Amino acid sequence: MDRLSTPEAAREYVLSARGKGQRVGIVPTMGALHQGHLSLVAESQKHCDVTIATIFVNPTQFAPHEDLQKYPRTLEQDCELLQSQGAAAVFVPESSMIYPPGFSTYVQPPAVAAPLEGEFRPDHFRGVTTIVMKLFQILPATHAFFGRKDYQQLKVIEAMVRDLNVGIDVVACDTVREPDGLALSSRNRYLDPEQRQIALQISRTLQNTQRRVQAGERDVETLQHQMHRELLGDGDAAESVDKIDYATIVDADSLAPIRQIDGPAVALIAAFVGPTRLIDNLLL
Ligand code: PAJ
Repeated sequence: MDRLSTPEAAREYVLSARGKGQRVGIVPTMGALHQGHLSLVAESQKHCDVTIATIFVNPTQFAPHEDLQKYPRTLEQDCELLQSQGAAAVFVPESSMIYPPGFSTYVQPPAVAAPLEGEFRPDHFRGVTTIVMKLFQILPATHAFFGRKDYQQLKVIEAMVRDLNVGIDVVACDTVREPDGLALSSRNRYLDPEQRQIALQISRTLQNTQRRVQAGERDVETLQHQMHRELLGDGDAAESVDKIDYATIVDADSLAPIRQIDGPAVALIAAFVGPTRLIDNLLL
């Protein structure tokens, strides 16, 4: 597997493959790779001739109080995993090459960035759209692979690609979960065994919500009320998450609030277990 460390080398790599008529897939990540990330690489392998992963812990999408400094960094292990998955190359830039002194241009995120994460992490999506657009420029691929695990991020990137006429096909990939339902996340490694047990309430609540909808419940307020109760352990403090940022059901495309479920909808949760903020979602 080739290791690319400068934007120039990365661009040259992609242009050379495209010059041969090859389809090039990119998989942007922040590293600390797990099977969720590797499933995106596998999906890219299916669609494309050449797959390039990127690893960059992007400072502009973290708020000052968030976990940028302690975000897990496992570069050598990540490269081994990527290689065993068959990635052709990995792009690992230095921060100074992405944000050189005097950097001041950002991509204004689309409207779908405003609710949910946008309310609780105000500048987060501006950092995401900026880095993803930069990666799209540095690696002018044919396809880019993103997980539904970060559902709003996927919608934000789809809208950006549409609005800015980016010539890259965005491919959405399903969430990979542990056998007990917990969505894989680089942040799961912050959880101790007790916290991990509590974190399970998040995926359980989403599954129960989906079941209720399948059984005929259509009233969003009723469903959301039940989601909050379950996340708070039905009154049992030992089973409760520590803080709910949101537990909500919205339109699956616009992420606008809805009162009744009469079309595609998605249930989304962001909650703290101890100091760790976890997100998950399920299409209903
Ligand atoms: P990161 O959290 O490393 O995630 C990289 C990609 O892996 C994202 O598209 C995310 O949705 C996907 N992913 C994470 N967990 C997953 C799971 N359990 N199943 C399937 N896919 C999963 O998201 C980011 O990095 C950054 O914001 C980034 C887009 C790289 C910009 O910095």
